[in-house]
Amino acid sequence: MYTDKMLRDDALKGKNIVVTGGGSGLGKAMTKYFLELGARVAITSRDLEKLQHTARELEDETGGTCLPVACDVRHYDQVEAMLKQVLDNFGQVDVLLNNAAGNFISPTERLSANAFDTIIDIVLKGSKNCTLAFGKHWIAGKQQNTVVLNIVTTYSWTGSAYVVPSATAKAGVLAMTRSLAVEWAKYGIRFNAIAPGPFPTKGAWDRLLPGELKEKFDLARKVPLKRVGEHQELANLAAYLVSDFAAYLNGEVITIDGGEWLKGAGQFNLLDQIPEAMWDMLENTIRKNSR
Ligand code: HXC
Ligand code: NAP
Repeated sequence: MYTDKMLRDDALKGKNIVVTGGGSGLGKAMTKYFLELGARVAITSRDLEKLQHTARELEDETGGTCLPVACDVRHYDQVEAMLKQVLDNFGQVDVLLNNAAGNFISPTERLSANAFDTIIDIVLKGSKNCTLAFGKHWIAGKQQNTVVLNIVTTYSWTGSAYVVPSATAKAGVLAMTRSLAVEWAKYGIRFNAIAPGPFPTKGAWDRLLPGELKEKFDLARKVPLKRVGEHQELANLAAYLVSDFAAYLNGEVITIDGGEWLKGAGQFNLLDQIPEAMWDMLENTIRKNSR
């Protein structure tokens, strides 16, 4: 079953992982599975109370160790302080999961300069701040076998109307993933990215499908597999990518979207709408006309 847990028990034992934006949504789901697999996980975001609540809940559910740390990823000094707090508690950190994000739908001409900057700052500058601070730490300490996993989107490469700051920033995060996968491989740091399709969360759905849009734009209909993603499916992929089983995987972006973005891309994909019964007639017409 695709919602089953994939990796063997203790697959992440001994790993210390930082998940930005780990207090809610997909970050929380991935954190939960990492804890179940034996990792210690620090979750960070701007809202300490939310993080403390999530950490307690996940520790109760999994018996693992989850450390809540307040950190606005837009500020490099806060990221350095967060790293120090994680090191003070865990002694070592092995994995950085850049998952924190900000986004909302808007025609671009309605955005203030500050609105555009806010998204770029959370997504691109935030991922850069964490990557740079953790990378410098790992390189200075000659620590090997470390991992950065970035959560991007499929519009990192297609672009998308109405979420232009997010698309611009996620494209930058993907470029950083591929660039550093090569440059920092010599330091034993692996970089990969996941591009999820629609995985319902409150954070994303409130800002991308507000009010009636939830019913009007049923995202499952856009997916060839005719459903949205289950959080455990994403958690399974993330756990594999940060684990030692993925030791030879570097510089890759893995799409997990049920075929959604390709459906929008293929020139004749819309022929899906042709009823089965019509194909005999169409074939006859083609044969006749091409004689
Ligand atoms: C236009 C808006 C706006 C809106 C805010 N702004 N919301 N402009 N339309 N709906 C403007 C504000 O007026 C302000 O500009 C600027 O943006 C900053 O807003 P603040 O509220 O001051 O910022 P902040 O408190 O930092 O909050 C950031 C946020 C908020 C992004 C606006 O939504 C947030 O905290 N989001 C975090 C969680 C999140 O977004 N999760 C969804 C990720 S989903 P002015 O000029 O007035 O100062 C995702 C999915 C991708 O990434 C793919 C899905 C398939
Ligand atoms: P979410 O629950 O809103 O997650 C976003 C997280 O980022 C929140 O926990 C938020 O916590 C944190 N955050 C926002 N601004 C921050 C800042 N300045 N500093 C630190 N943390 C900050 O939404 P989600 O759907 O789970 O999204 C998680 C990731 O998946 C994002 O990268 C998103 O782009 C990606 N994604 C989601 C989907 C989907 O369908 N859900 C699809 C493709 C990609 P605080 O508010 O407490 O700071």
